[in-house]
Amino acid sequence: MGYSFAIVQPLYPLGIFYLCRTILIKKTEMKKIFCLLLTLLVLPVTMKGKEIISVTTNHLQLVLQVNDNHRLYQTYFGERLSAATDLNVLPLSAAQLTSTAIKGHEVYPVMGTEDYYEPALEITHADGNPTSVLYYKSSSVCPVEGGTETTITLADNVYPLTVTLHYVAYTKEDVISQWAEIKHGESGKVWLSHYASSMLYFEVQKYYLREFSSDWAKEMQQEESQLNFGRKIVSSRLGTRADMFAQPFFEVGINNPVSENSGDVFMGTLAWTGNFKFTFEVDHDGVLRVVSGINPDASRYLLAKGKIFVTPQFIYTFSHHGIGEGSRNLQRFVINHQLYKGKEDRLTLLNNWENTYFDFDEKKLTELFSDVKDLGVDMFLLDDGWFGNKYPRKDDHAGLGDWQVTRSKLPHGLPFLVKEANSKGVEFGLWIEPEMVNPKSELAEKHPKWIIKLPNRETYYFRNQLVLDLTNPKVQDYVFSVVDGILKENPKIKYFKWDCNSPITNVYSPWEKANQGNLYIDYVYGFYQVLSRIQQKYPNLCMMMCSGGGGRCDYEGLKYFTEFWCSDNTNPVERLYMQWGYSQFMPSKAMCAHVTNWDSKSSVKFRVDVAFGCKLGFDINLKSLSADDLSYCRQAIKEYNRLKPVIYSPDLYRLESPYEGNHCILERVDDARSHVLVLVYDIHPRYGENVLPTRLQGLDVNAQYRVKEVLLMPGRQSWLSCNDKTYSGDYLMKIGLQLVSTNELTSHIVELIKL
Ligand code: GLA
Repeated sequence: MGYSFAIVQPLYPLGIFYLCRTILIKKTEMKKIFCLLLTLLVLPVTMKGKEIISVTTNHLQLVLQVNDNHRLYQTYFGERLSAATDLNVLPLSAAQLTSTAIKGHEVYPVMGTEDYYEPALEITHADGNPTSVLYYKSSSVCPVEGGTETTITLADNVYPLTVTLHYVAYTKEDVISQWAEIKHGESGKVWLSHYASSMLYFEVQKYYLREFSSDWAKEMQQEESQLNFGRKIVSSRLGTRADMFAQPFFEVGINNPVSENSGDVFMGTLAWTGNFKFTFEVDHDGVLRVVSGINPDASRYLLAKGKIFVTPQFIYTFSHHGIGEGSRNLQRFVINHQLYKGKEDRLTLLNNWENTYFDFDEKKLTELFSDVKDLGVDMFLLDDGWFGNKYPRKDDHAGLGDWQVTRSKLPHGLPFLVKEANSKGVEFGLWIEPEMVNPKSELAEKHPKWIIKLPNRETYYFRNQLVLDLTNPKVQDYVFSVVDGILKENPKIKYFKWDCNSPITNVYSPWEKANQGNLYIDYVYGFYQVLSRIQQKYPNLCMMMCSGGGGRCDYEGLKYFTEFWCSDNTNPVERLYMQWGYSQFMPSKAMCAHVTNWDSKSSVKFRVDVAFGCKLGFDINLKSLSADDLSYCRQAIKEYNRLKPVIYSPDLYRLESPYEGNHCILERVDDARSHVLVLVYDIHPRYGENVLPTRLQGLDVNAQYRVKEVLLMPGRQSWLSCNDKTYSGDYLMKIGLQLVSTNELTSHIVELIKL
């Protein structure tokens, strides 16, 4: 055997860690020693100078190998290999790396090497040379919360260029997060034209891609196609409202189409609140290359000497049991490591947008506070239309940028409203859109240089507004001051709905001047800068990420926002499809779902039941509801509060897909498998359809479960034959329950409790 290695035993390094602590070594020293030990344990060092690096979670493994040419190659990615010795024999050798057969799967291929496909990195050096070659220099492994971080340093031998690759393996979630840091020491101008977060390779017979197209009111529509020779790109060039036409999520079925409970599937997303790009390229050898990162189109980035360009994290999982398992991994990961206040509770709310639009005054609002109380939700959310004096915001043509309350409309200001709400036991939340400006605003008049806008062409408008130039630190200060000012005056405001209705239009930053290629990227860094200041100063504040519906929806944004608005379209049937899509990547507590009158054909019960599986809210005129419907809503909120632990569980089983039949069924199971909620929707069943029992999943085979339909309309009895009966987990998973019917737009919420 050419080299020896050890696969780390999870508790072994921890033992060393505690040993070091007991002999009182300084914390930083101790961390260094611990990393070194972990590195020695995890990184297999070859006797011949060859190295194998294994990034491992409980069930996943990514194996990289340094070859004789001192470059780094991927030799394996997939289900964790059980025999450590197999890493030695993974096929990749210098013999395969001939100029005619480009077989080596280089981990971070650079423009300039013998690989002629899309590179991970392309950098034009100060002397104009557009090529680089990266050689392996060193690697280390350190413990991080929830897993380990492997850091690999690569460098060019000709130019002072260093690329550091980071891999964080989240052990129990089976998720890997990967990014790159690029740095050079050249004095002249150095440009980056490609700067991927990751490049991963798959080599099987067939590949199938599931992507999620979007538009306003039509978010997260899943579509699948086979990937054949050539390139397929899923990307965004919209800047701020980045995900309006494509969501930054994908699934690749390995050998077979993507399926819910079986087969190998690779699922990924880019944690970046801006332009993204996923390239799926099947090469001449039938190898699939997946390149993920910021979209470099229109973003040739000027990188200053010594500055580190940090790519966003590409976050992914691989499941051997379909996307069901993959999305449980990702939901658990988001709750534990990504989402702001991921493990905390969420507030239910009543929003006034669809109820009043811009047409409200103090009297109307204070009456709505009473509705909040009557309904039983936690918070009132005041939407668009409360600000602007010289140019009051009476519709969407004016006022954005002037975040002072409209005195003629709300003469006693926000403090009065917050106080009134609080005095009724109601929390207060507020809509803002602080990155935007209407040309009809005092802000636009005062600071024209703060606006992204072409200096020498006619301006065009998206929803009558323009985007502020967040690359400019003064604008960052201003946007921060919008939130800070409101909160200084109203410290009791609990929540912001942070909207972003326009993409970046008229793409020219007065701040970046000659470096316009930096605009899209520096904008996002400016945005994060503002958000982290807000988070530091107001750690208790909760915020909804909204963008004309679900135009902004990504894992990095979730570090600052407690939830996101899925879509302005609240038609419950449409929502079932969207929620089906989002649930493949997002936990329920992050997905805002409001009950509205967008569609009045379906019953209020059906609308409530659809929102019930997510982060529940209302945006409806209570006076328009019948007594029974109102009483149903009140009951639903009580039940929602009781059932939150299971509704917010990451263990979701999607039992019946609206894409494949006439029903939609979802099941949530808590950690202990003792509390289960099944959400059943009959959408448009066919006449005489053969309705069959639905088999549940994820239960304790040997336990007995009591079944009860909850949330019934006043005076109604459950007509489910399984209601109030007890079944074994085995029965429920092998035979199942009769849950669906042929009644159009009906729904059932069914609770199972382990006895
Ligand atoms: C966007 C949001 C809506 C609402 C309006 C207000 O479209 O998605 O929910 O807040 O803005 O203008």
